[in-house]
Amino acid sequence: MATITMEVEAASSNHRHARLERWVEEMAQMCKPDRVYWCDGSPEEHQAMLQFLILSGIAIPLNAAKRPNSVLVRSDPADVARVEDKTFICSRTREEAGPTNNWEDPAKMKQKLTGLFAGSMAGRTMYVVPYSLGPIGSPAAKIGVEITDSTYVVVSMHIMTRIGSQVLEVLGGSGEFVRGLHSVGAPLGPNQADSTWRCNAENKYICHFPETREIWSYGSGYGGNALLAKKCHALRIASVQARDEGWMAEHMLILKLISPSGQVKYMTGAFPSACGKTNLSMLIPTLPGWKVETIGDDIAWMKIGADGRLYAINPEYGFFGVAPGTSMKSNANAMLSVTRNAIFTNCAMTLDGDVWWEGMTDDKPAKLVDWLRRRWTPDSGRKAAHPNARFTAPASQCPVIAPEWEDPQGVPIDAILFGGRRAGIVPLVTEAFNWQHGTFLGATVSSETTAAITGKVGRLRHDPMAMLPFCGYHMGDYLAHWLKMGALSSASKLPKIFYVNWFRQDKTGKFLWPGYGENSRVLKWIFERCDGKVHAKETPIGRIPEVADIDTSGLDMPAADVEELLSVDVEGWLGELPSIREHLAHFGSHLPEGLNLEVKTLEARLHATKR
Ligand code: GTP
Ligand code: SPV
Ligand code: MN
Repeated sequence: MATITMEVEAASSNHRHARLERWVEEMAQMCKPDRVYWCDGSPEEHQAMLQFLILSGIAIPLNAAKRPNSVLVRSDPADVARVEDKTFICSRTREEAGPTNNWEDPAKMKQKLTGLFAGSMAGRTMYVVPYSLGPIGSPAAKIGVEITDSTYVVVSMHIMTRIGSQVLEVLGGSGEFVRGLHSVGAPLGPNQADSTWRCNAENKYICHFPETREIWSYGSGYGGNALLAKKCHALRIASVQARDEGWMAEHMLILKLISPSGQVKYMTGAFPSACGKTNLSMLIPTLPGWKVETIGDDIAWMKIGADGRLYAINPEYGFFGVAPGTSMKSNANAMLSVTRNAIFTNCAMTLDGDVWWEGMTDDKPAKLVDWLRRRWTPDSGRKAAHPNARFTAPASQCPVIAPEWEDPQGVPIDAILFGGRRAGIVPLVTEAFNWQHGTFLGATVSSETTAAITGKVGRLRHDPMAMLPFCGYHMGDYLAHWLKMGALSSASKLPKIFYVNWFRQDKTGKFLWPGYGENSRVLKWIFERCDGKVHAKETPIGRIPEVADIDTSGLDMPAADVEELLSVDVEGWLGELPSIREHLAHFGSHLPEGLNLEVKTLEARLHATKR
């Protein structure tokens, strides 16, 4: 133990940024850690931290012959997902946070949090983690510093972001950075052991102060609650910066689609949490000759370039992906990304020291230790892995990572996809008539909730652009920002916008569409629509392929099902209108007029087809 502590303490770096140092000093005085440690992001540091997690009992090393340099971590059952009801946007006024965010007065919230953070790191190390979102030094990159008392967070940040001394060099003596303070909220008494996942289940607060570009997160060590670079910075704070500076911070995957003749198109896709971004971003097309390469699986930052096209970068450096459902059949590239140097959280453990989760293999192992550390057999009657169990792995390990994924300029986007989980009504794919109509499609994304957030699974809710939990300001203003971005360029240069739904079900509740690699059939249609090379039918809700327009060669499914997937249920859509209206009405005077117009014209088009 002693050697590890020393090793960790020895790696202090040469930082001289007076404002940063003062802030760290102030936070240390408030949180009262045993020691302060500046992370340099080196492989040696990563190993020392993993060792510490293993020796202290928080992480279990996996069988090195099966999964080298990888660990399993099991959280507290009270700390397994993002907590939207404990997430706050503390802008100056409630109005600025808008109707979709929890709000508290910044001064009041700071006061409350100061009380909680006081002494919260007693007995622990306070880590200072400087990170770059986007390739270090890229004109699109932004710097943040996370202070945390969780070693698990540090090893995760090593994988998920670019961290360390190089970032401090770019920051220099006076560079701007986002300040993130995180504590699991479990100080240690003088003789208290620290051998398990810690959190403060009764006092979780994930707070954002957009005006001062600050994040204060207390009480949770899990995912987006604790890895502050991810949702807190790269989406909630960044969305505010993007509004102010004229760019976009979006909950989107970025993929590169290559046709058999070697033509390339780049696409982004916004689907709510656990609705298929990671899967789509690295899919293996079932259509011969087509190939997908990955740029990013969760977040895209986009900006109009000098040529008028929209360019996207992936601000992240790794994947924090949903484990259940991931298999060599559904997502081989994700499985191959996690064969080494990975962290698994809340997965089950096999008797030979590897991980397992529901859907990983056709046959369930006869015996496991489940994520709750209990004995498990297939007839235990419960899930072996938590439904929001996740893997953390370097993006560079993805077998189909695009060579240009770290291009500091980003990649020019040809198509933007929206989507969600909808059992009925929403067709397999719909093309928007134009940018404003596409913004309307994004604004009206609705999806059934998943295990990525605490609360009820399967509840239908509107989730504009999959940003409902991640927009750092008024959602109505955010939608207006989308329209403004569209006005910055011309229709021929802007990406085309599409709406997809892989999750339509038949009457028995079975998915009508096989999904996964078969989604390439839809991507091919989108690709060819971008070049105007394939037919689409005009319908009241948008342009939709007819059965003959989708390449179904080799697809083993009844033509009637494809027909149903591409059908427009006019009555169903008329039935949706009141809820769409009610949803948009929440944004009051902040709702851009263009979107009101879209509802009216949609209604008129639907009625016209009935006549
Ligand atoms: P976050 O990381 O939470 O933002 O999620 P994500 O959007 O990246 O979702 P992900 O790709 O991890 O998929 C979540 C779940 O949806 C997994 O259990 C997948 O197996 C399932 N899924 C993904 N794509 C498809 C699909 O095309 N069809 C069906 N039926 N399920 C899918
Ligand atoms: C999501 O919930 O959309 C995620 C996982 O990507 S987390 O990082 O926990 O937000
Ligand atoms: Mn996500």
